Amino acid sequence: MRIEGQSAIITGAGSGMGAACARRLAAAGVKVALLDANAETVADVAREVGGMGLHCDIRDAAQTEGAIDRAFEKHGPARICINCAGVVAAERIVKRDGPASLDAFRDVIDINLIGTFNVMRLCATQMSTLEPVDEGGERGVMITTASIAAFDGQIGQAAYSASKAGIVGMTLPLARDLAKFGIRVMTIAPGLMDTPMLAGLPDKARESLAASVPFPKRFGQAEEFADLAIHIVENAMLNGGVIRLDGALRMPPS
Ligand SMILES: NC(=O)c1ccc[n+]([C@@H]2O[C@H](COP(=O)([O-])OP(=O)(O)OC[C@H]3O[C@@H](n4cnc5c(N)ncnc54)[C@H](O)[C@@H]3O)[C@@H](O)[C@H]2O)c1
Repeated sequence: MRIEGQSAIITGAGSGMGAACARRLAAAGVKVALLDANAETVADVAREVGGMGLHCDIRDAAQTEGAIDRAFEKHGPARICINCAGVVAAERIVKRDGPASLDAFRDVIDINLIGTFNVMRLCATQMSTLEPVDEGGERGVMITTASIAAFDGQIGQAAYSASKAGIVGMTLPLARDLAKFGIRVMTIAPGLMDTPMLAGLPDKARESLAASVPFPKRFGQAEEFADLAIHIVENAMLNGGVIRLDGALRMPPS
């Protein structure tokens, strides 16, 4: 699908890879609606790219529906939906002082997996009512963000890995569900990316993590994620799959 002139919904757009997607798409002539639970950062990025910043917790069905409706009123229907909102968490199942917190596990699943599905179901419903953009019948594209932790989760990553494996798991059934509307669904599984999510690690830990990537020996850049997202939107044969963006990294147990 040609991206110029389209409208897009981007979640987690106040930071990292979501913000990079908002910058790239806005520069390519897309009207971007940026959704994020952090009202301040999303307003900043929206101002910078000339987009619409919307404070929205993707766990909240009513708030998310309201945000997507406001984007629709200003930009028209979105044919591009990029889901980057997410959190990382680490907790062993058996801790020194007892079992892992059930609420903490639930929170990660709630944001990363159910929140992503929430945005997708609302965007897909809107997209399904649009006229196709071409003779092939394409109406829109949805991109979700998993992680290589979906495949090689490390010690303490049960909740995070389960949430991301859930995103991988729903990619094909959603692509099959939405095929009759001409809506594609693809997932990107990043490795180690240089975003605020990993910025809190000590320098030594960052250096040794970067050295563990076979090639190139560095963290990925948020712009490399955005470039791949744009390619997915433009390449109609990409559907129902998961692309690793990880420099051949396979995470060790810890
Ligand atoms: N950085 C990495 O190395 C890495 C690797 C693999 C996967 N990922 C995944 O990529 C995605 C983007 O990560 P990033 O590195 O850009 O992180 P980031 O922390 O820079 O950005 C994540 C954004 O999501 C927002 N967010 C969190 N919870 C939300 C909610 N409930 N509702 C709406 N917005 C919410 C945050 O406010 C933040 O702006 C995440 O899903 C993350 O799990 C990141």
